Amino acid sequence: YKITDAMKEQLADFYGGFASEEETAGTIKALYENTGYVIDTHTAVAAFVYKKFKEETKDEKPAVIASTASPYKFSASVLEAIEGELSERDEFDMVDKLRKEKNAVILGHYYQSGEIQDIADFVGDSLALAQWAAKTDADIIVMCGVHFMGETAKVLCPDKKVLVPDFNAGCSLADSCPADKFAQFVKEHPDHTVISYVNTTAAVKAVTDVVVTSTNAKQIVESFPKEQKIIFGPDRNLGNYINSITNRNMLLWDGACHVHEQFSVEKIIELKAQYPDADVLVHPECKGVVAKLADKVASTAGLLKHAINSSKQNFIVATESGILHEMRKQCPEKNFIPVPPEDSTCACNECNFMRLNTLEKLYNTLKYEWPEVTVDPEIAKEAVKPIQRMLEISEKLGL
Ligand code: 13P
Ligand code: SF4
Repeated sequence: YKITDAMKEQLADFYGGFASEEETAGTIKALYENTGYVIDTHTAVAAFVYKKFKEETKDEKPAVIASTASPYKFSASVLEAIEGELSERDEFDMVDKLRKEKNAVILGHYYQSGEIQDIADFVGDSLALAQWAAKTDADIIVMCGVHFMGETAKVLCPDKKVLVPDFNAGCSLADSCPADKFAQFVKEHPDHTVISYVNTTAAVKAVTDVVVTSTNAKQIVESFPKEQKIIFGPDRNLGNYINSITNRNMLLWDGACHVHEQFSVEKIIELKAQYPDADVLVHPECKGVVAKLADKVASTAGLLKHAINSSKQNFIVATESGILHEMRKQCPEKNFIPVPPEDSTCACNECNFMRLNTLEKLYNTLKYEWPEVTVDPEIAKEAVKPIQRMLEISEKLGL
C-alpha cells in the first residue's frame, strides 16, 4: 500500500490533491488488512472518495458510486472492506439472514458454482428462471446467472428490484447479436416471423415475435405452419439443430456461445473409448459435429432429467460443467464426466461470465442492493410481449 507517484498524480488530477498521502495510505492499508487484496490505484482513489463523501454527507449508504475504476472494480467487496466488516463470518448464514430481512428470492442457473446453487431458492435452466421470476412475490430478485437473465426478470417484473451479483457477467452469445444489426436484419425480411433465443438483450427481444429457450425451441418452432418463413437468432448451432429435427429451413443469425463451441470431438471420442457404455449428453449450443456424437441433445434441465431417468452408470457431459453439481446431487451413485474444451489442460469447461458470481458478491449484492439491472421502459414494453408469449405456450405444453 505504498503511495506511488502515479497515485499521487491521479489524486492531484481528479481531486485537486485534496487527499493527503496519509489519508489515502490509511484507506489502502485498511482495505489490504481487511481483504488481503492489493488494490489498484483507481480503486484506492475511489474508495478514499467514497469514505470521505460518506463522512461529509453523513449518508449511510451513498447512492452514487462514482469511480475512476470500472464500476465493478469498485465493488461491493471494496465497500465491505471500507466498512471494516469483512472479518470472519459465515457467508451462508449472512446471505440467508439478508434474504429473509429483505424479502428477496435468489434464483440460480445450473452454470453457477456449487455454493451458489446450494444457497439459491431455486436452481434451474433459462426457462425455469424466467418462469420463477414471473411468479415470485418477493420484493427483490437476485439473479445468479448472467445479465440477460436479469433483464428478462426485470422485463417480467418492472416493479421489482432485480440484482445481479456481478454486472460484468455478460454472455458471448448475446454479444454476438447487436440489437441495431439484428433490427436491420429483421427489417430486411418483413415476411419472416422472428424467433429469438432467450440469450439476447432486451433490445433484441423488443424486435422479436416469440422468445424460446433450448427447452421449448422445437415445440415453439413447430407451432408455426411449415410454410411460415422464420428468422432464428442468434445461436447458429441451436438454429441448425432445430432446422434438422423439424425439417425446416429457418434463416439463421450467425452467433455462437464461446463455451459450447469449444467442445472437442476428439476428446469425446477418447472419453467414449474409455467409457464405452456411457451416454453422451450434449447441449444444442454445441457444434453440429459434437451433437452428432450425442445420445441425448437437450437443454441443461433436459440433460439432467435424462441422467436421472436413465439406467446407465456413466455420462459424458458436453455443456458447462456447473450442471454436474446438480447431476451428482440427484444421482450420487452415477458417474458424470465433463468434456474438456479444445486446447486446454483443464478437465472441464466453465463459462467465465457465469463464474464471475461468487458467494461473497451475492452477499454484498443483497446488502447494498447493487448492482441493479434496469431496462429502458420503451424497450421493456416491447420485449415483454415475446417473453410472455413463450411463457404462455410453455404453460400450454406443460413445460
Ligand atoms: P439452458 O439453461 O436453457 O439450457 O441454457 C444454457 C445456457 O447457455 C444459458 O446461458
Ligand atoms: Fe452465454 Fe455461453 Fe455463458 Fe451461456 S455458457 S451464459 S450462452 S457465454
